[in-house]
Amino acid sequence: MEKIGVIGIGKLGICLALNLERKGYAVTGVDNNSQYVDIVNNKQLTSSEPGVVEYLSTSKNFVASTQLDNVLIDDIKLIFIVVDTPSVSDGGYDHSQIETIANQIIANGKSIEEKHLVINCTTMPGYCDTLAEKLKPYNYTVSYNPEFIAQGSILKDQVSPDQVLIGEDSGIAAELIEKVYANLCDNTPQICRMSRVSAEITKLATNCFLTTKISFANAVGDLAIKVGAEPGKILNAIGADKRIGHAYLKYGFGYGGPCFPRDNRAFGRYGRDNNLTMLLSEATDAVNQEHLTFQFNQYLNQYQPNETILFDSVTYKKGTIIIEEAQQLALAVRLVEAGRSVLIKESIEVVELLEKQYPDMFIYKVVQDA
Ligand SMILES: NC(=O)c1ccc[n+]([C@@H]2O[C@H](COP(=O)([O-])OP(=O)(O)OC[C@H]3O[C@@H](n4cnc5c(N)ncnc54)[C@H](O)[C@@H]3O)[C@@H](O)[C@H]2O)c1
Repeated sequence: MEKIGVIGIGKLGICLALNLERKGYAVTGVDNNSQYVDIVNNKQLTSSEPGVVEYLSTSKNFVASTQLDNVLIDDIKLIFIVVDTPSVSDGGYDHSQIETIANQIIANGKSIEEKHLVINCTTMPGYCDTLAEKLKPYNYTVSYNPEFIAQGSILKDQVSPDQVLIGEDSGIAAELIEKVYANLCDNTPQICRMSRVSAEITKLATNCFLTTKISFANAVGDLAIKVGAEPGKILNAIGADKRIGHAYLKYGFGYGGPCFPRDNRAFGRYGRDNNLTMLLSEATDAVNQEHLTFQFNQYLNQYQPNETILFDSVTYKKGTIIIEEAQQLALAVRLVEAGRSVLIKESIEVVELLEKQYPDMFIYKVVQDA
């Protein structure tokens, strides 16, 4: 049985590890959160991510560890790194969690056999080249292989991607990654091999394009509403043009969540780093905010001041527990700040989160399937 290592088994990493295990690999997951590692090994994990608890409970060849050494052993050639790369205030990413691992690898000394690190994290373009230079003397290659997944459907998205993006180092590493995806995927995705920096740009540019499309749809919709036209019919007709397509061309709340806003901003930041103003990235962000203001005014006009306004879910995507940059929630907050009363229908998990973050702000109705 072929062995694979996954360093960082948080929201994304544990899904990758479990999907790989189900496709026949013996997977060792490393995480520096020892309490979490114990919970995973005792199969006591609770997770809002569909399928994770079930996959973990039926897994036979997945073991978690706090010890990095456990994936630097001879019979593991491919090691995925899936630690967090939080956003920093100027729009870039903080790579320090990856750096910590790189320094541990270096401290471990030169590997006798060549090993291949695969960076799954979202990184600033150029970072993986720097990392590769740093690790080359220790006999490690570095490839970049981000995933286009959404929380709420990670396990499913991982095995049915449209494309597999490989920012390659050595041809050997790229072949190994391709082989893994041939086993992992239930579909036959397009394999896109390119340089590491090209793959890093592709990841950010893809999300910039999607946010641009969402903002475009919302801007068209706002204008249509303003003049008494029909946003849904207009966007449906635009999307019927095959060159454009219906996906992400619906009128609704602005984009939010843990990836879209930050990847779009990071794309803008990368442009600025290279003395280019990425107008689309900046405009998309601004339109998202303008749209929020438009919707805010709509709600103020549509509801009487003494009426309670109902929000049927305030997470970035219905059915998840993620409230990060959720525009529905931002709107609800603005309405309360303007003196309105807001009732939120959500799952108990989300209500508990909101009660902590916004004490006494909203009225809640707990529902099973938010
Ligand atoms: N979650 C998503 O929906 C999503 C989607 C696309 C891309 N990504 C990218 O994937 C990466 C991981 O995201 P996530 O949401 O899974 O993060 P996460 O915070 O849920 O998980 C990261 C894990 O890494 C562990 N870790 C941190 N430092 C470590 C170290 N030195 N050694 C071992 N383990 C360590 C943490 O304990 C944690 O369990 C990020 O770069 C993110 O941008 C995430």
